[in-house]
Amino acid sequence: MDILSISGVGKRFGGLKALDNVNLNVRKGTVHAIIGPNGAGKSTLLNCLVGRITPDQGTVGFDGRSLLGRKPHEINQAGIARVFQTPEIFGELTVLENVMIPAFARTDGAFRINVWKRASDRHAVREEAEHILDDLNLWDQRDQVVNSMSRGDKRRLELAMCLVQHPKLLLLDEPTAGMSRADTNNTVELLQKIAERGISKVIIEHDMHVVFSLADTVSVMAQGTVIAEGTPAEIKANPKVQEAYLGGAHL
Ligand SMILES: Nc1ncnc2c1ncn2[C@@H]1O[C@H](COP(=O)(O)OP(=O)(O)OP(=O)(O)O)[C@@H](O)[C@H]1O
Ligand SMILES: [Mg+2]
Repeated sequence: MDILSISGVGKRFGGLKALDNVNLNVRKGTVHAIIGPNGAGKSTLLNCLVGRITPDQGTVGFDGRSLLGRKPHEINQAGIARVFQTPEIFGELTVLENVMIPAFARTDGAFRINVWKRASDRHAVREEAEHILDDLNLWDQRDQVVNSMSRGDKRRLELAMCLVQHPKLLLLDEPTAGMSRADTNNTVELLQKIAERGISKVIIEHDMHVVFSLADTVSVMAQGTVIAEGTPAEIKANPKVQEAYLGGAHL
């Protein structure tokens, strides 16, 4: 069964066709990687999924419902969380505070009011945030102000902020961008660990080591459209993919 169905999606920016008849289905519980050269339209596609951009054409279905026309916070509440290409976190707050904020915000208004009123609920949210920090090896840094953290730690924090929302689908835009090899390996391990939670994932990634370690299915985008889809082994062997990457990244 598909958790996400993208069909015939198109988006123009002036004269540029950033997305051109994109079709992509993500099976529930799987990791689906999107790869492709710079400017292929990967982030634009993700922006369509989270309601930051409205496609000119096509449909996007999530968990049996259409996402089109819905606001970013509605899409978030429907169960989609996103790790951005550049971390979006509260630099002046501590690690723990950053994880508690999306936990408070994750449910409807009624629950939110209760949370603020009832100490026991606040306690539950805090406990869960602490548990997730422990899972992502951020426990020791829980009282640190985020601005002073390394880039790799910030990315892990962002992942923690997503997990605390209990998403059905997690969207990751280059989660290892700018990381050292050690931090990258660490992140792959963490993503493998959280795969056990059964959350479906769409991951945009340039690092082929990461893609081939994590993905069940790989879609390759070039010039705004999907040019190939398959298992990591099929994608590695596909001549069309090799061609799209000529002069760019290597498989
Ligand atoms: N808001 C915008 N306005 C105008 N053009 C845009 C906008 N967003 C993206 N583009 C253009 O659309 C094309 C696709 O961009 P996009 O960011 O989706 O590529 P990408 O595959 O994510 O690339 P990268 O690997 O570099 O992150 C590019 O040519 C880009 O310049
Ligand atoms: Mg991008």
